Amino acid sequence: MKICRSKRDIREAVAAFHGAGETVGLVPTMGYLHDGHLTLVHAAQAASDRVIVSIFVNPTQFGDPSDLDAYPRDEARDFALLEAAGVDAVFCPSADEMYHPEKQTTVVTEQLEHLLMGALRPGHYKGVCTVVTKLFNITGADHAFFGEKDYQQLLVIKTMVRDLDMPIEIHGVPTVREVDGLAMSSRNVRLTPEDRQAALILNKALAYGAYEASDGRTADQLEADIRTFISREPRATIESVDVRDAATLEPIEGLIERPAVILLAARFGDVLLIDQRVADPT
Ligand code: PAJ
Repeated sequence: MKICRSKRDIREAVAAFHGAGETVGLVPTMGYLHDGHLTLVHAAQAASDRVIVSIFVNPTQFGDPSDLDAYPRDEARDFALLEAAGVDAVFCPSADEMYHPEKQTTVVTEQLEHLLMGALRPGHYKGVCTVVTKLFNITGADHAFFGEKDYQQLLVIKTMVRDLDMPIEIHGVPTVREVDGLAMSSRNVRLTPEDRQAALILNKALAYGAYEASDGRTADQLEADIRTFISREPRATIESVDVRDAATLEPIEGLIERPAVILLAARFGDVLLIDQRVADPT
């Protein structure tokens, strides 16, 4: 497995793959890898000849500097996992390698940027779109893989690729969960044992919500019911509960009659967790 810390090194590695007539799949990550990330790697291996993984904790998508500092990192462990998984190359640049000191260009999806998580974290999706565009340009990958767990992120990236004619195919991968249902996340290690247990309320709330959605509810009613359900867990501080059109993330007027996505964000201690599920009432 090639470890590339510079743009030049990863470009050379990809040029060699393309020169041999091989397709390249990219899995962008911020490291501290878990089975969710490795599932993206396996999806990439099934769809492309060579797989590269980027590890870069992108400062421009964190609003709160303390959240950036607290983000867990373990490069040696990540490399070992990726090597064992049969990844061909890793791109792990420093922030200085990634960003020009006088950078002034960003990429935004004008509407999606301001909805939901975008409203709670101003500038977050601008940071994501800009770094992902750079990763696409630097690597020249043919395919890229993103988790459905970050539902709005996946939609933002698909929209950006469509609107800007980026020559890359985007693949969405279903959320990977622990056996007890908690969505895998690099943040889970920061949960206390009590909060780790309490966080199971999120997946339970999604199951409850998906069931209720097929029972003639409006989005407003369903959001209120899910809030009540989650507040039975005193350790959970709800940040947001949204039921939106699964295709556009726009609000749903009247009864839920088309696929709707339930998006949850809640804090357990100081750890913000998100989870989502699509409910199809049809
Ligand atoms: P990160 O949080 O490291 O996630 C990398 C990828 O793994 C994302 O596409 C995310 O949706 C996916 N992922 C995380 N947990 C998952 C799970 N339990 N099941 C399936 N997929 C999962 O998302 C980012 O990094 C960054 O915003 C990034 C796209 C790399 C841009 O900086």
